[in-house]
Amino acid sequence: DLHSSVETPDKVKADAPVYAGKEEDIKQSQRITASVHDREVVVFYHEGKFYAMDRYCYHAGGPLHLGEIEDVNGQPCIICPWHKYKITLATGEGLDQAVNPTEPSATPKWRSKGIKQRTHKVTVDNGSVYVTPSDLSISCDSDYYADKYKKTGSSDM
Ligand code: FES
Repeated sequence: DLHSSVETPDKVKADAPVYAGKEEDIKQSQRITASVHDREVVVFYHEGKFYAMDRYCYHAGGPLHLGEIEDVNGQPCIICPWHKYKITLATGEGLDQAVNPTEPSATPKWRSKGIKQRTHKVTVDNGSVYVTPSDLSISCDSDYYADKYKKTGSSDM
């Protein structure tokens, strides 16, 4: 009865921000991996901003924390090291290049395939970086690998 607005204890736990690391450390290393409620995520620090997303690529589970970041169409993207899929850091959208068949000579345009990789909210508080899982009731392609490779039992150790 202490928290009348919350739904269930499990729900509170799954939504709670999780400490990911020290702000200074992540700014220096530019990326870290963390477990957020049994979910493996990667936190990037890129050009002055923090981003967090599921660590395993939605396509086939590639290790996004080992990818390069490139600007694609003005949006910073992680390039999956396995098959070079491009995923926007800010929204987790998959990008690909579309050729207009009626205009074969035109430069292919980047287009969004929609949100494929689950992103998470990053907050910085007093030198500490926290990741808050996004709404898990809305499914996302990367959930499959997040579930397959989830850390289990780490809190029991
Ligand atoms: Fe990431 Fe295929 S696993 S592009």
